[in-house]
Amino acid sequence: MGVMGASTLSLVLGGLGVLLLYRMLLRLGTSARVQDAVVVITGASSGLGKECARIFHAAGARLVLCGRDTGRLQEVAQELTQLTTSSSQGKTYTPSTVTFDLAKAETVDRAAGEILQCYGQVDILINNAGISYRGNILDTDLSVQRAVMDTNYFGPIALTQALLPSMVRRRSGHIVVISSIQGKIAIPYRSAYAASKHATQAYFDCLRAEVEHYGIGVTVVSPGYIQTNLSLNAVTGDGSKYGVLDKTTAMGRDPRDVAKAVLEAVRHRSKDIILAGPLPALAVYLRNLWPALFFKVMSLRARKEQRPQND
Ligand SMILES: NC(=O)c1ccc[n+]([C@@H]2O[C@H](COP(=O)([O-])OP(=O)(O)OC[C@H]3O[C@@H](n4cnc5c(N)ncnc54)[C@H](OP(=O)(O)O)[C@@H]3O)[C@@H](O)[C@H]2O)c1
Repeated sequence: MGVMGASTLSLVLGGLGVLLLYRMLLRLGTSARVQDAVVVITGASSGLGKECARIFHAAGARLVLCGRDTGRLQEVAQELTQLTTSSSQGKTYTPSTVTFDLAKAETVDRAAGEILQCYGQVDILINNAGISYRGNILDTDLSVQRAVMDTNYFGPIALTQALLPSMVRRRSGHIVVISSIQGKIAIPYRSAYAASKHATQAYFDCLRAEVEHYGIGVTVVSPGYIQTNLSLNAVTGDGSKYGVLDKTTAMGRDPRDVAKAVLEAVRHRSKDIILAGPLPALAVYLRNLWPALFFKVMSLRARKEQRPQND
């Protein structure tokens, strides 16, 4: 290698080193405290929400667990309380619970009031609750499209807007939303779900820009499949329960790993993270860089998966 080659290489390596150091310093500087923080988690009764509850509890957060079923929320709270007494780590707290249905807009304001009464403030809001959908558009009632939108989009944004003024007053807060890789790409027979997650992505991207100067962070988390009851609880085109544990969901990520990634994203105040394998991540790039090819692949997939009632 000539003198020129060697000096170019050392310049590139030096530049990379400076960049890495800068990123590390940035991360250290923005690392947020979770110990003692008031963390609200929706959909805390099962799946990813329950794992987030476990991991944020262990990190010393003061939790407010939300869901529709008081009994199931209290079971989670009790389980964590037992850990509270036996924990040898830092200080942990007995969680509070607030029961409400995100799909009923009129209950969300009351719930936000109850949430604020628990500790007088909210430091971190994790909009996790959600419902999935399986069906083809031709056979899907508009009421089902609206219902999925109510739970996955209007509910979380209503709760966010109800809690936001208290964060703005304190010039501090962090809002997380669990979207999906389907908030970035749309796959056939998931219209209601993908549409609700695309809307979620757009809303929280706007919010991030609008509240950053108040010291409020926004993180959109986009996971691929996770091993939870999401597909079992999904609704179909006529509103009935799908009730099947899809192979893709059963073979998905461990929800504990996803919860860990959510905690890290909060600590580092990440803005947008994708938690999916290389193929879905590649599909996101393909959708933007070579849409014609992406649409062709989706159309082939739709034909392959065509539901019997469409034949
Ligand atoms: N599993 C996956 O493959 C996957 C992939 C990407 C993204 N996600 C997202 O991850 C989030 C968590 O889902 P999960 O996989 O953990 O599924 P899950 O086990 O079915 O949990 C869903 C949670 O949402 C709550 N919920 C549903 N409808 C509600 C409503 N109307 N009001 C209040 N709470 C409601 C449920 O609580 P109650 O029934 O007790 O009210 C439950 O705790 C969702 O936003 C989902 O879209 C999941």
